[in-house]
Amino acid sequence: MRTIVITGGTDGMGAALARHFLTTGDRVVVIGRSRAKFDGLLSALGDPSAADRAEFVAADLSLLADSRGVVAHLSARHEQIDALVLAASFIRSRRHATVEGHEASWALFFLSKYILVTGLAEQLRAAGRPVVVNTSVPGARADAIDFDDPELTQGFTFGKSNAQQRRANELLGILATRENPDLSYVTWGPARLVRSGLAGDVGAGMKFAAAILAPLLGQQPADAVRPLIDLIDDPAPGRAAYRGPKPVPLVESPRDEQDVIRLADLARADESGT
Ligand SMILES: NC(=O)c1ccc[n+]([C@@H]2O[C@H](COP(=O)([O-])OP(=O)(O)OC[C@H]3O[C@@H](n4cnc5c(N)ncnc54)[C@H](OP(=O)(O)O)[C@@H]3O)[C@@H](O)[C@H]2O)c1
Repeated sequence: MRTIVITGGTDGMGAALARHFLTTGDRVVVIGRSRAKFDGLLSALGDPSAADRAEFVAADLSLLADSRGVVAHLSARHEQIDALVLAASFIRSRRHATVEGHEASWALFFLSKYILVTGLAEQLRAAGRPVVVNTSVPGARADAIDFDDPELTQGFTFGKSNAQQRRANELLGILATRENPDLSYVTWGPARLVRSGLAGDVGAGMKFAAAILAPLLGQQPADAVRPLIDLIDDPAPGRAAYRGPKPVPLVESPRDEQDVIRLADLARADESGT
């Protein structure tokens, strides 16, 4: 039986994947903050055997301590992880510092992912054909990260913050596949807006998109994740990037090598400093 770990598995696309893999007989570990949403997901499935294969781990992944706690918990309980899906999301259009003092979006959309991918490397290595699916829209500019101020204490904008996380998640893929050449690491964004929870604390434009456009034009989460199911069921070693079902070119840059080292140094310093 495969073990599939899904952050943000209580809502939106993460929940659609959790429902799918519980239906197909896999073991699914859902990570999120709301046990009530997880319980609702299980009772809607109405399958006692699915409930036996499902596990919920409560964590606020914008906190490094919680992300490390998830790694410790999963490492103690699971020798092998076949798929790690990174889909936790809380969109912020304004800068927000967590109680640990980190910028919340950088912590949730990158530092937490770094902790999970590197911390669970051994469990992923134990799987025959491991895959990390990082729902981070590919294609950010190679110079997107401000290495002197990655938490954007000056001049925070949603655009800068988003581009930094996306570039960082592509660099994380270089690091992870270098350490495990059998690993499939996919950065993926939906082909169009998805009618998901769109959790966040955002301005008027994004609220409008979430409240009006998503219900009118958005794709259902279960439809949006179909390409991800194929990528998890038949993973190809190495890095890849997709928009919906379509492969897109990886951003390759002469600065990749130095940026991977700088990013890993940054993440390790943040980890030990918290
Ligand atoms: N929807 C779109 O159109 C769209 C477009 C482009 C990219 N994406 C990307 O696709 C992925 C999935 O998005 P979605 O729209 O399906 O998400 P969503 O419906 O908004 O759900 C977000 C999930 O993240 C969890 N979450 C939020 N904050 C968390 C925290 N601090 N710690 C732990 N879990 C947390 C929520 O669980 P709890 O409530 O239980 O905490 C929930 O399960 C994200 O990476 C998103 O950026 C989505």
